[in-house]
Amino acid sequence: MPPPDGLRGPVPATVPEIDRINRVFSDAFTDRYLRDGMSGVRVPLLNPAIWRFAIEDASDGAMVWHDAAGAVAAFNMVHRSGVEGWMGPLAVRPDRQGEGLGAIIVRTAIAWLEERGARTIGLETMPRTIDNIGFYSRLGFRPGHLTVSMTREIEGAPAPSGERLSRDRESGLRGCHALTAELSPGVDFTRELLLTLEHRLGDVTLLAKDGGLAGYALWHSAPLAEGRPRDEARVLKLVARDLETFRCLVRAVEADVAGQRARRLAIRCQTAYPKAFGALVEAGYRVHWTDLRMTLEGKAERHALGEGVVFSNWEI
Ligand SMILES: CC(C)(COP(=O)(O)OP(=O)(O)OC[C@H]1O[C@@H](n2cnc3c(N)ncnc32)[C@H](O)[C@@H]1OP(=O)(O)O)[C@@H](O)C(=O)NCCC(=O)NCCS
Repeated sequence: MPPPDGLRGPVPATVPEIDRINRVFSDAFTDRYLRDGMSGVRVPLLNPAIWRFAIEDASDGAMVWHDAAGAVAAFNMVHRSGVEGWMGPLAVRPDRQGEGLGAIIVRTAIAWLEERGARTIGLETMPRTIDNIGFYSRLGFRPGHLTVSMTREIEGAPAPSGERLSRDRESGLRGCHALTAELSPGVDFTRELLLTLEHRLGDVTLLAKDGGLAGYALWHSAPLAEGRPRDEARVLKLVARDLETFRCLVRAVEADVAGQRARRLAIRCQTAYPKAFGALVEAGYRVHWTDLRMTLEGKAERHALGEGVVFSNWEI
């Protein structure tokens, strides 16, 4: 897939280029919202530490395209957790949109994921962004359920009582890997768990029941946007054997992140799990944001087996 004249890529995204990628991200999404009628929204630069995590997580799936002057024209962060593949964030610099570059960065990501055996290939976009939905549909993506970001103020949460991965790395990782494989065969979040600890962005709350691991949640307490206070923690992955475990796990995460000075917890809930969604509503969570999940035809998501709940973020 050769890029349009004068453009070069994909080349691996690197840490020294984070500032330039960050700028294209902020400009492209701000322009997107402006065109969707949200004229007052300025999408902030993201915390560089979060970009480092995303680039290392994507590894050689972190792709950049340069223009003739060597500036960043487009990027796509392509991630794979075992057989689960997803892309994001991705953007084309506003002055280079409409030339076919968007189609190239998405097709390149699809080929990269297919070569590596991804069984699911997906992404998230805002439901109100009709042009994006049209753009992805032409590339073979089909709309699925919503990811509803739910938040709750957690002041007054009880003292942390559960186990944490940072305190028991080896056996914790083995347990998380086994539980994920049991509920979502082929999916593996080990890299995200390890990178979170290595980069000191957050931790993993572990919940044991009857002598075995029944659930875990990977969360970040590092701020998402640059220069913001550390007051909101976000759950990136959540795996629970059943709904009761899910409820207990959410409470355990609240206690753990409150201990990290967070005042609010955000959970990206996939509405393919309506009972878990209901449990969050009952627990006082408020709807904060919505994204539409789209998957490539023939590469749809699989629901967790049995009574399991598996939430996986497809955005950083
Ligand atoms: C989304 C984005 C990556 C697309 O990049 P781009 O370089 O403009 O895309 P392309 O030029 O390759 O293709 C645009 C295609 O979408 C099509 N399209 C646009 N609106 C459409 C609609 N409402 N229905 C159907 N198709 C539509 C265009 O017709 C064009 O297809 P064509 O080339 O076959 O005519 C770019 O707009 C962007 O970076 N947006 C801001 C950030 C963002 O939203 N990122 C994605 C978040 S999920």
